[in-house]
Amino acid sequence: MLTSATRANEADMDMDAKELQPIKLRYGIVGNCDALNYALDVALQVARTDLSVFITGESGVGKEVLPRIIHDNSLRHSRKYFAINCGSIPEGTIDSELFGHEKGAFTGAIGEHEGYFGAADGGTLFLDEVGELPMSTQARLLRVLENGEYIRVGSSEVRKTNVRVVAATNVNIQNAIRDGRFREDLFYRLNSIPIKMPPLRQRGDDILLLFKKFAMEIAAKYQMPERISLSPEAEEVMKRYKWPGNIRQLKNLTEQMSILMRDTRIVTPAILADYEIWPGNDDTGGLVRVSHRTADDHSYAQEREMLFQMITALHNEINDLRQRMSQQGHTTATHIDAKDADAVPMDAADVGAAPMAMPTSQTVATQHSAFSVPASQVIANTYPTQPDNTPYAEEYVEETLSIEDQEKRLIIKALERSRGRRKKAADELHISERTLYRKIKEYGLEDM
Ligand SMILES: Nc1ncnc2c1ncn2[C@@H]1O[C@H](COP(=O)(O)OP(=O)(O)O)[C@@H](O)[C@H]1O
Ligand SMILES: [Mg+2]
Repeated sequence: MLTSATRANEADMDMDAKELQPIKLRYGIVGNCDALNYALDVALQVARTDLSVFITGESGVGKEVLPRIIHDNSLRHSRKYFAINCGSIPEGTIDSELFGHEKGAFTGAIGEHEGYFGAADGGTLFLDEVGELPMSTQARLLRVLENGEYIRVGSSEVRKTNVRVVAATNVNIQNAIRDGRFREDLFYRLNSIPIKMPPLRQRGDDILLLFKKFAMEIAAKYQMPERISLSPEAEEVMKRYKWPGNIRQLKNLTEQMSILMRDTRIVTPAILADYEIWPGNDDTGGLVRVSHRTADDHSYAQEREMLFQMITALHNEINDLRQRMSQQGHTTATHIDAKDADAVPMDAADVGAAPMAMPTSQTVATQHSAFSVPASQVIANTYPTQPDNTPYAEEYVEETLSIEDQEKRLIIKALERSRGRRKKAADELHISERTLYRKIKEYGLEDM
């Protein structure tokens, strides 16, 4: 039975949730769980103050939208907003990036540079991954937060600025403080208002709403006749899975399934299992089946698998094209009809740059997928820009290897990982042992 107090609380909550609708619409935020609503509510409440806001949450939970909401709803909204990823700026240049430098301050400083704290005067700076800042930069940051003063690199002149700082981290900042990697005084200065973004596994039915949103978006983007949807059992699996990569992972997964599922548009637990999405069996909300793997190992293995499958698919496509062309009287494979142009494989680099999780036992669509766009084009178009946080993408992008080289490299890696056990390597690569033997011979890898 509800007491009047809880009823009043629930009424408050509903009111809040309604008030948040316009914000959610404007920023494309989906979800209605209490923890998300609370985070958005706090962001809106503090927006008009100048207090420092400190956002915490695992990677992929959606932290980046909050500083933007805070800025847009603050009195500073007509001034500059910069989002800076502190983890991606090399230690040697971060001071100059943030605080500017004078001409000749260091080798290569041909002109003077204003720096973000100067440029954002009157506005807002979002310092993402703030836990990555070097100690020397932390000291400068503390000073500018305390009295608005900063000094450019190579200068002795004290400058003034008026910047509101919103910081975020996905690392446990308490650990960083304990280990002496983060200044405690800076933490307290940044942490005037803490906002915690909840992990996806704690968002209940929001998981299903987000799935639906992403499935609809991708269906619209590629004009698919039907979006994918979840069977009731698959819904349960999705709700009980651990989601180590949070919303970013859910989005990637939904996109992949939308593209690769051809025979049916209903996602079942069996299909989810192909993507290593397993219901949890513990209180933390779920376990991936191979529980000793870290999230990074997980995506690496899957990425490699995907690459291999794509290469196999491209091989098939090329062979098929060759065959069709020789049937049409062409003697070489260098001339390709315009109508077949779509089937030409994209750069190996594009393949490699494609992000994340892939099915482990489902084959990449080779010829014509569920929505009549040739697979090679679909895959190339699906990942038009650098995906979020793909730490391994670089590795592939840098190398412009031929398909054969890529294939050889994957086989070598699989053999290394399985310590020469060919059955295991073949399983991992999703090819038969016989094919693996043939490839080993072809590439002269018998000694591995
Ligand atoms: N509530 C949400 N509704 C819709 N999309 C979301 C939501 N939260 C996060 N996303 C999407 O998930 C991805 C990861 O979010 P991001 O803010 O980059 O995560 P973080 O910075 O916490 O690692 C982005 O593509 C973002 O648009
Ligand atoms: Mg981020």
